Amino acid sequence: MQRLLWLLLIGVLLFMSACQSNDDNNSSSQDNSEKPKEEEDVTGNQGYEQLPEPPLQKLDQGEQVVALQHFLEQLGYSFSDQGNYNEQVTWAITDFQIQQENLLVSGIYDGNTKQKFEEVLQSESAYKPGEGLLAPTEPAFSDAGTEVISNPYDQLVLVNKDFSLPADYIPDDLVIPNVPFPFTEDIPKKYMRQAAADALEELFADAQKEGLDLYAQSGYRSYDRQDTIFAANAAENGEKHANTFSARPGESEHQTGLAMDVTSPEVNFNLETEFGETNEGKWVKENAAKYGFIIRFPEGKEDITKYQFEPWHLRYVGHKAAEEIMNEDITLEEYLEK
Ligand code: DAL
Ligand code: ZN
Repeated sequence: MQRLLWLLLIGVLLFMSACQSNDDNNSSSQDNSEKPKEEEDVTGNQGYEQLPEPPLQKLDQGEQVVALQHFLEQLGYSFSDQGNYNEQVTWAITDFQIQQENLLVSGIYDGNTKQKFEEVLQSESAYKPGEGLLAPTEPAFSDAGTEVISNPYDQLVLVNKDFSLPADYIPDDLVIPNVPFPFTEDIPKKYMRQAAADALEELFADAQKEGLDLYAQSGYRSYDRQDTIFAANAAENGEKHANTFSARPGESEHQTGLAMDVTSPEVNFNLETEFGETNEGKWVKENAAKYGFIIRFPEGKEDITKYQFEPWHLRYVGHKAAEEIMNEDITLEEYLEK
């Protein structure tokens, strides 16, 4: 009888333990079924690939660029090459940026662009690949034989005697930087694109703190204005000589809205080589890159830029490119060739 009781007790214990382990299995299988859902929630994007950390820009390479390209592919863009932030990627980013409200258009994958990508996924707001900027195709050439730039919005756009801007390109985010000018009229040459204007204000504010007397002389110029200026210079100096210091229409960075000529009272607000010898000129050369600017036509690089030394001509390219260009003592041509 006692044996029977023992057997009954063992049976009850075995039964309880089996129930317990079943509970465990149930709860762990519930965990497993919930886990993928949690992971999905973390990405938040219904299976879209995770966006890489910004910033990424032209010439960047590697896994982060591949991740960006995979993401863009899911939005309908396509690429012939993976892992290189090339013209195609720059175009896709630019095209997307143009189609968004309140987003700087630069071709650079920055924090605000990443945020817009996330918003677009959540709200399914409208955008269509190619709707903002035509996809690059076979290069087109101007009458003068230069290749016409297909993405003039690109912050790293190369404008020179080989690559010219479309005659009808007018930047759509031109503003007047809050810096001193040696004249008071509201005229186009006071304007720059927003990002460049913001950076110029910072540069001027710090120059002023150093006790320097810096002035902005000439920023945005339309294609037609450049046509008039070059014609006048050519009439006075002959076309060939004029083209060593003055760009033909379409070939001037001033049309991008990313350039500003700066000067000082010491050189009577003129744009002349002596500006490079003034305290203002020296400080600008030493510090421009911190604010994303380069001296676009440096001394000793005339055979590459095809223009004479212009210590006054600042071109905005953004902090990363500017630091590299100025530290390595190279031109934008050399930087973009890499
Ligand atoms: N002075 C520069 C080259 C221009 O005309 O754009
Ligand atoms: Zn200039």
